[in-house]
Amino acid sequence: MTVHAAARSRPGRIVAIAVGLLALGPVPAAELPELPPAAARGLEVYRSTCMRCHESDPMRDRPGSAARVDGGVLTAIEVIPSMRGLRDRLTLAQIADVQAWLDFVVLLPGAARPATGWFVDESAPGRALFHEVGGGHSTQLVLHHADDGRPEWRRLVARYTGARVGVKDGLARPTGGQSLVGAWRPATPDPAPMPVGSGFATADRIGVQLPRAALGFARHAFGGSGAPIPANPGFPQAGFWWNRDEPGRGFALEVQGDRLLIVAYFFDADGRPGWLASSGAMASATRYAGRWQRATGGPTLGGSLRKFASATTDAGPIELDFETPRRATLTLPDGRLLPIERLH
Ligand code: HEC
Repeated sequence: MTVHAAARSRPGRIVAIAVGLLALGPVPAAELPELPPAAARGLEVYRSTCMRCHESDPMRDRPGSAARVDGGVLTAIEVIPSMRGLRDRLTLAQIADVQAWLDFVVLLPGAARPATGWFVDESAPGRALFHEVGGGHSTQLVLHHADDGRPEWRRLVARYTGARVGVKDGLARPTGGQSLVGAWRPATPDPAPMPVGSGFATADRIGVQLPRAALGFARHAFGGSGAPIPANPGFPQAGFWWNRDEPGRGFALEVQGDRLLIVAYFFDADGRPGWLASSGAMASATRYAGRWQRATGGPTLGGSLRKFASATTDAGPIELDFETPRRATLTLPDGRLLPIERLH
């Protein structure tokens, strides 16, 4: 039976074909959602048109990222020279169908989509990771400590092509950028980022393979229940936040229930990467007031938990007033007001 005939006669069957095509492994057909009609049509377009150049499993190739790239397939057709001819061969409806198919694939059970928010290294408390997929990239901020105990961070920004695939790139330690309260200055990129691989076993686990150590991060539950819970309706969105006129320093923010956990990552006065954290219950859906804490003496990037005690010290006040779940005004410790917004 051709896929075309299957699509018309038995929607359940086409899911099985689709899954075989994706080689997702043994996913019982009963657990799969029915393939929506647009996605079924899109699969046909994908097979007849896209597979001339792309792999049968879109998650192993660029198209898997289409579900997230701004503008999706339509943008790809506009910007990728070898795909331009498709604009004349496909109707807008067919392009929308392919997009529906790719969106469906990304959300299939078994295709773990890593969560946006905080992950912690359970074997070394004090080492944490913030993850977000946006703009076709997986961005990971890894918080750890330097050999002298100071809080430090590194960042991975890697092209994201599919939930199960994971990413490979350099874990970079830029220097010399803006401090939390200081005037803007450009950061110097890391001339030799550490080569790492990062895998997403499930939505709740991220592994980071360093040259000589493997780190495992699990989703952090801080909303007052044993498992991570979504933010209450109307509360701020999880993700990286920044002031777009002052790139380089930023804020990683997540709310679970009514509890906020925010980290400011920036550069110390001597140009080394540093970070502060603040957490607690929000006063309302649009306001948070608390204190920044500076953690010292925690685990280094690849090392185990330090023998000597880690400590936190107060680093000044923080106030956040949210105009929308994506925009806020941050009051810096010196009283200056900084407009911030979600990066993606
Ligand atoms: C003639 C060859 C060709 C065909 C046919 C083709 N593509 Fe592509 N596509 C490419 C190339 C080349 C790239 C760029 C690959 C890279 O960057 O490594 C690409 C990249 C993409 C990307 C990534 C865009 C990004 O921003 O990274 C998406 C999405 C995509 N293709 C979707 C599709 C879809 C959907 C179809 C079918 C409707 C299709 N392609 C058909 C050649 C093709």
